[in-house]
Amino acid sequence: MSAIFKEAKFDQPDYFEFTKENLVKAKKLMEQYPEGKQQAAVMPLLHLAQEQHHNWLPRAAMFYIADMLEMPPIKVFEVAHFYTMYNKQPVGRNLVQVCRTTPCWLRGADALSEVCRNKLGIDMGETTIDGAFTLIEVECLGACVNAPVVQINNDYYEDLSPDDISDILDELAQGDEPRAGSYQARQCSAPVGHAHKGAPAARAPSKRVQKKPALENAKLDFGDESGKDDKKSVRNTKKTRAKK
Ligand code: FES
Repeated sequence: MSAIFKEAKFDQPDYFEFTKENLVKAKKLMEQYPEGKQQAAVMPLLHLAQEQHHNWLPRAAMFYIADMLEMPPIKVFEVAHFYTMYNKQPVGRNLVQVCRTTPCWLRGADALSEVCRNKLGIDMGETTIDGAFTLIEVECLGACVNAPVVQINNDYYEDLSPDDISDILDELAQGDEPRAGSYQARQCSAPVGHAHKGAPAARAPSKRVQKKPALENAKLDFGDESGKDDKKSVRNTKKTRAKK
């Protein structure tokens, strides 16, 4: 998976340490590995640090973890920079990752990206000025059978139509938690129509007609959802433009 963020200027904090709770978790994680092999815990510790630090990983956290695991800082930097799930710069509260690899592309990923761009008023790799959303395109998220797929923070949203992703963004903008998983009421990757009784119902097609878009209610002008009028859309949610 590769993610593309627009390069931006931001401050690196001088200091990082785990909270008391996370320190306990970190020690438990380290104990899972045999004596002398604690460095193997570097990835879960980096995840923990990122989770604690608003979903991005400052350099101070990498030094802190290197110290904790008694390993050269460069080794921690190598891991953090190899894996794109570690965000090395600040991201919005909702990190929207649209899968663009072939199965998702064939099933309509381009249309999902277009809806995201138009509603949020940002391009790929950018963050809304209010810090609510960062939008990126990524390679295969490993859920191709339920394409097209969008990952937002730790949740997968699958079998999406443009209307579905539009509603999901509305709900997130309102501070709600949209339902994760398949939007075709599938049980995992079972064929459509073969969901077990407990599976969530498919989204009613009439929902968008019945419901006023949440973003409209939130007085944020996210423009023309149809995507036909890019120029008029969304631009009062100014972008955090990359300053190179
Ligand atoms: S191609 Fe999108 S999840 Fe695999």
